[in-house]
Amino acid sequence: MIRRFEDKVALVTGAASGIGRATSLRFAEEGAKVFCVDLQAEEVERTAKSAAEIGAEAQAHVCDVADPQAAAACVQACVDRFGRLDVLCNVAGILRFDYFQDLDLDDWNRILAVNLTGTFLMCRAAIPHLLDSGGNIVNTSSTSALAGLAYGAAYGASKAGVLALTRSIAVEYAAPGLRANAVCPGSILTPMTSGGAGLPEKVDPKLIRRAMAIDKPRGPETVAGVIAMLASEDGAHINGEEIRVDGGTLA
Ligand SMILES: NC(=O)c1ccc[n+]([C@@H]2O[C@H](COP(=O)([O-])OP(=O)(O)OC[C@H]3O[C@@H](n4cnc5c(N)ncnc54)[C@H](O)[C@@H]3O)[C@@H](O)[C@H]2O)c1
Repeated sequence: MIRRFEDKVALVTGAASGIGRATSLRFAEEGAKVFCVDLQAEEVERTAKSAAEIGAEAQAHVCDVADPQAAAACVQACVDRFGRLDVLCNVAGILRFDYFQDLDLDDWNRILAVNLTGTFLMCRAAIPHLLDSGGNIVNTSSTSALAGLAYGAAYGASKAGVLALTRSIAVEYAAPGLRANAVCPGSILTPMTSGGAGLPEKVDPKLIRRAMAIDKPRGPETVAGVIAMLASEDGAHINGEEIRVDGGTLA
């Protein structure tokens, strides 16, 4: 494995599971110190332990990224622990499906709060440290930001917001040298897609098939590799970009 992140510090949210866990381990394999953040205490500890077994310095941290004080404290805890921050990966996210007419305002608000506001809060807290280190941000959007996801209006809206947020940061901070990019995964096998977010009854299967992989679905490592590329010097001239990792579904 190439080691593009020697002496670098990566903070990964959503690190207890799926893409966030795979991303934490990818950074660990490539030499980074990893600050693993999630709501799930036991599972995020397990990720940090796996990163340490690979030989990385790793720290687990429990945080609700939608909580402004907790998000700011999380970034500070990372800098206190490792002395710097080079890469912020916002991977934490939630998904639920509802018929649009049944979409509850509380559910809408929570999806926006975690997926979009959480990403904003983490970016806002991290940017001063990333400017100090010449670092960068990789956010996690979704193919649902690029094509309609039936029964997923709140989720799709939150992920489209992540793309707009990412582009704004990219433009605003290009001159001082901070990059911000996004990945748009689709049909990645994780707890989120294997039954975690149940569909309501009697959905139209052809609308669901529309969002499904035309190739075989892949594991979260395939997204982690793209995130690592964007965050590394290999991505030095990529800024404000979104990369689909969906096996060609939306091609
Ligand atoms: N799996 C896919 O096919 C797919 C497709 C498109 C986008 N995504 C996005 O990729 C990201 C990772 O998804 P995944 O498939 O690995 O799902 P996952 O459910 O396996 O992991 C999501 C993680 O985020 C954590 N989390 C949720 N709310 C949080 C909060 N408020 N604060 C901190 N952590 C929180 C969860 O505890 C969990 O560990 C999400 O943003 C998701 O929307 C996934």
